[in-house]
Amino acid sequence: MSPSPAPARDIYTEPQDVDYNTLANLGPLTGMAGIWQGERGLDVKPKAQGPKKQAYVERIELQPIDPTTNGPQLLYGLRYHTHITKPDQVKTYHEQVGFWLWEPATSTVIHTLTIPRAQIAMAAGVVAPDAKRFELVATQGADTYGICSAAFLHEAFRTTEFRITVTINDDGTWGYEEDTVMQILGQAEPFHHTDRNLLRKVAEPTPNPLARG
Ligand code: HEM
Repeated sequence: MSPSPAPARDIYTEPQDVDYNTLANLGPLTGMAGIWQGERGLDVKPKAQGPKKQAYVERIELQPIDPTTNGPQLLYGLRYHTHITKPDQVKTYHEQVGFWLWEPATSTVIHTLTIPRAQIAMAAGVVAPDAKRFELVATQGADTYGICSAAFLHEAFRTTEFRITVTINDDGTWGYEEDTVMQILGQAEPFHHTDRNLLRKVAEPTPNPLARG
């Protein structure tokens, strides 16, 4: 007797009764919603003569988006824009846009990042809903949670791994430490391009469109 076929997985039906108040459903990202500044960032970047340290100032806006569904998958999140300069300059030193997402059903945080060097990455990690410190990872070449670069960077500064550790502090600030690992053309050892900053709130978030309605 042949076994009966497994029931087809329903990948289309969306969850019902979704709470549209994103700010109340961000899990471990709750302490990151809003507009933030950090004056004491530290970057270690690749230069021809070796690693170079640079202080930076940062402004990051993290605004709630309406809940997103992929069939049965439900994601809450924040849309962000990071703008970084050297302390005494107007010129953009680093810029980044993307989303911080929280999937309650799988206790997963996903961080998407796009930088104007023609590079994108998606880092993820399983995180407790009330975690105050968590790490996310993206790996080049992986089918999910990967890193994708345009041709020049892929050849000359191949980013093989990206890690970010976020710490939410009791005083309402939060901070991050990043390690962007790259294989630089002509160098035997991987280069660790690191960044860290501490951010203090300068304005509250604006509720997502559905919650405002
Ligand atoms: C606060 C965060 C960051 C800052 C301030 C920053 C800043 C910089 C700067 C200034 C350079 C150029 C070095 C130079 O030639 O003068 C650089 C290079 C690079 N960054 Fe970042 N970066 C940050 C995060 C990231 C992240 C998250 C990634 C990728 C996941 C990344 C990927 C790269 C790559 C591939 C290069 C090599 C390209 C080159 O040197 O021409 N960076 N970064």
